[in-house]
Amino acid sequence: MGLKFSHPVGIAAGLDKNAEAVRGFFTLGFSHVEVGTLTPRPQPGNPMPRLFRLPSDQAIINRMGFNNRGAESAAERLAQRDPAWGIVGGNVGKNKDTPNDQASEDYLRAMHALAGTVDYYTVNISSPNTPGLRDLQHETALKSLLEVVANENKRLQGIPLAVKIAPDLTKDEVQAMARMAATCGFQGIIATNTTIDRSGLKANPNHIADIGPGGLSGRPLTSRSTQVIEWIKEAVGDSLSVIGVGGVFSAQDVIDKRNAGADLVQVYTGFVYQGPRMIHTLQPAWKRD
Ligand SMILES: Cc1cc2nc3c(=O)[nH]c(=O)nc-3n(C[C@H](O)[C@H](O)[C@H](O)COP(=O)(O)O)c2cc1C
Repeated sequence: MGLKFSHPVGIAAGLDKNAEAVRGFFTLGFSHVEVGTLTPRPQPGNPMPRLFRLPSDQAIINRMGFNNRGAESAAERLAQRDPAWGIVGGNVGKNKDTPNDQASEDYLRAMHALAGTVDYYTVNISSPNTPGLRDLQHETALKSLLEVVANENKRLQGIPLAVKIAPDLTKDEVQAMARMAATCGFQGIIATNTTIDRSGLKANPNHIADIGPGGLSGRPLTSRSTQVIEWIKEAVGDSLSVIGVGGVFSAQDVIDKRNAGADLVQVYTGFVYQGPRMIHTLQPAWKRD
């Protein structure tokens, strides 16, 4: 994407939604932190409970719903950071009550608020927890959104742009999206967000049903998201940088994503289960000593 990372592994969006812990994550050794998803206006997210662990599957189901204090508030905190700590991505989304035909205005407003405080933007169109959001992945809507974002980004300082996609897409859909992102002038693609699929889980099906809707992350997502990386590479080669995310727990998981074509790797659920020393577990993937 034209950015220099000290190593490949960073923190995925949703762990530091309000950019409150960036310094802490760098201190733990991550090379980058993607803050957000940030919407232009603050919003509370869905009612609790909205976050569930499935320990037998090393997984999480969440329906947080973009709870966040708004992009402007995050920008105030990000303005205090030292760029030498590492790379910060700003993941932007739309407010729940903004209709899809006005979605692009929300993305632009969030980008404006964050301008000058982040190193790249991620356009999040793949959360399952904002009704209708993933419809923005469909071809016509996607093209106009990505074009508007890319044009506006040029008028701001022109930082790298990435789009984050769902794992619940067909190969054709993934490849069409990747080509479109490249055509629209994006530099990166993040694969993937959480899945709405519940197949193959060890947890009791009644328990899963009781939990209800939400996005599933962690171990059940590992191979699915790696497959999506392969599809992207097959479609666009090196014309987009690929950020692989989904079910990374071990150094081998990092290597597998990198072998599939990921330039960078992000973690969320693995970090929740393993805790602050996780980066030491992953380090053998890129460090020999
Ligand atoms: C509790 C929770 C909240 C999340 N919130 C966001 C979010 O706000 N924006 C986003 O793009 N992804 C969000 N994600 C998705 C993660 O960034 C990541 O794409 C997904 O969890 C797969 O990675 P993992 O298996 O390492 O968790 C969230 C994930 C979890 C578990």
